[in-house]
Amino acid sequence: MAKLGHEVVGIDVDEHKIKELAASRAPFYEPGLEDLLREVQDTGRLSFTTDMSAAQGNSVHFVCVGTPQKKGENAADLTYVDAAISALLPFLSPGDVVVGKSTVPVGTAARLAGLVENKEPTAHLVWNPEFLREGHAVSDTLEPDRFVYGVSDGSEDHPAVSILDEVYAAPLSSGTPRLVTDHPTAELVKTAANSFLATKISFINAMAELCEAAGADVTSLADAIGMDDRIGRKFLNAGIGFGGGCLPKDIRAFMARAGELGADQALTFLREVDAINMRRRGRVVELTRDLCDGSLLGKRITVLGAAFKPESDDVRDSPALSIAAQLQLQGAVVSVTDPKAIENARRRFPELHYEPNTESSVQRADAILLLTEWNEYRGLDPYELSRHVTSPRILDGRNVLDAAKWRAAGWIYRGLGRP
Ligand code: UDX
Repeated sequence: MAKLGHEVVGIDVDEHKIKELAASRAPFYEPGLEDLLREVQDTGRLSFTTDMSAAQGNSVHFVCVGTPQKKGENAADLTYVDAAISALLPFLSPGDVVVGKSTVPVGTAARLAGLVENKEPTAHLVWNPEFLREGHAVSDTLEPDRFVYGVSDGSEDHPAVSILDEVYAAPLSSGTPRLVTDHPTAELVKTAANSFLATKISFINAMAELCEAAGADVTSLADAIGMDDRIGRKFLNAGIGFGGGCLPKDIRAFMARAGELGADQALTFLREVDAINMRRRGRVVELTRDLCDGSLLGKRITVLGAAFKPESDDVRDSPALSIAAQLQLQGAVVSVTDPKAIENARRRFPELHYEPNTESSVQRADAILLLTEWNEYRGLDPYELSRHVTSPRILDGRNVLDAAKWRAAGWIYRGLGRP
């Protein structure tokens, strides 16, 4: 927002985060974010505080807090959204716009609009879902695919529409489309988009299971079906499945909400999407056992990658870490490495052993598992690597290595859904 030319104050209850941000340090790894922070802080348009009263006098208030999965349940935990809105209410002025970015169960915006308008009848609540991907957050934010504004009456003439148009004037003028909808449609756009993406990944992973049974190659299959532009090649990469702080919990929260609305039948397929995804992890453990001549006991296994995806240090619901923990439970001696995520991984899985880099992690390995496709792992040299291992065996959990090249260098190569 500051880069787009606005005066911005960032507010959080976490003092440590605010201190770091005020010093232009991002509290997590995201490519380009620290450079952007430094650039805009130099202009004086961006400041940070833990004091909510700093919201007073500003005209647009973005609520961007998380909606994690409730412990032991599928539903979304709205504690943070509710807390942020009630902390903001005393500081609203006539005509203000409150903009919800969080991914919430459909119906939440209407409830929150009641609170906002009860406090300040001329204020408005817009639901404006966030579609950014971790690892691409800066460019996805500055050049988004689309804007969706959910307003109470679903009308282009709603007074909040022109205010948000001013906020997003720069990307709108370079052609980003925007849609105005009612509140529930805007909330559903986000959960429907994430459910579609998750379904696409589980579809190709189901095809991978079939390819393995039939001796076919899922990467060629994906290339071929992806050439039909009704299908498209993106998000058809078979592998160890999806993780992270969004897709897994969003499909579960969506099913829970559909149940509350009496429409659970409409989303029973998402249970299968989730099940196919979770099955990938067990499949990798089985393949690793195969690769290690039928027993994991005492085998030295290297796991390359701990983050749920490359270019991120996020380990929430990381399939790589879940696989590493299962292998260790079954008696393997596991060594995990990652370019950015070791600290976060250690906090979540303190029982695992971590190594600072690829070279230290592969020493005397009986098998290597590539589970997060960082560029540095895609570019590994099989000849150089074989000097450090006990047995040159690799499982490519993301199907990103050139199988022929690794086999020519003497490795036993296994992909997922590949012969
Ligand atoms: C997702 C949505 O893409 C984004 O629009 C939304 O705002 C938030 O949720 P993100 O969680 O950052 O973004 O990651 P994404 O790139 O979608 O990847 C999610 C998971 O799917 C990762 O674990 C990734 O490895 C996996 N994936 C992705 C596959 O297994 N195969 C693919 O083809 C694509």
